[in-house]
Amino acid sequence: KRIVILISGRGSNMEAIVQRCAAEGWPAQVAAVIANRPGASGLAFAAGHGIATTVVDHTAHASREAFDAALAAAIDAHAPDLVVLAGFMRILGDAFVQRYAGRLLNIHPSLLPAFAGLHTHRRAIEAGCKLAGATVHFVTPALDHGPIVAQAAVPVQPDDTPEALAARVLAVEHVIYPQAVRWFVSDELQVDTAGVVRHRGGA
Ligand code: GRF
Repeated sequence: KRIVILISGRGSNMEAIVQRCAAEGWPAQVAAVIANRPGASGLAFAAGHGIATTVVDHTAHASREAFDAALAAAIDAHAPDLVVLAGFMRILGDAFVQRYAGRLLNIHPSLLPAFAGLHTHRRAIEAGCKLAGATVHFVTPALDHGPIVAQAAVPVQPDDTPEALAARVLAVEHVIYPQAVRWFVSDELQVDTAGVVRHRGGA
């Protein structure tokens, strides 16, 4: 299986996936890492691991549709079985999402369906939540609401700042995202008609 990973900045989730893929010998390879910003520091990590890198700069396109089309062309050059959004900070249009339906994953830093959207850690703290976490889901046109593949919860501490909680959540993101990608490339995921994902067996 061929994986293309999209990043916007640090790319720590991309790094975790690249490292687990190599360490565990998945039936897959990360064919390319694509960023929407030339300064994305994750590009250097990918290049250092011999992975093809491309920048599709969203500021260089006149419209959202033009950017999405250029992004799809860059992705399709690598004929992916799976497209992974990892800290990718652009909202993608319906045409793009439909093009990769069923093979487009995202990670969101909350326990969806709670706290879709931005500033999830501050919102969880302000709401007095005792648990926070992360969700890996298939991407559908409804933002942050696709079929859930994996989740992990972390405690919210009484004196937590959004930064402290974000760091605690990021640590479990680096566990569940590689796991979810491994399940996909191992053909261990099934999505039922109600949009409920089941992982069958396997180690
Ligand atoms: C993470 O909090 C992730 O949940 C969100 O983007 C943030 C940065 O991720 N999608 P990364 O370090 O760029 O992978």
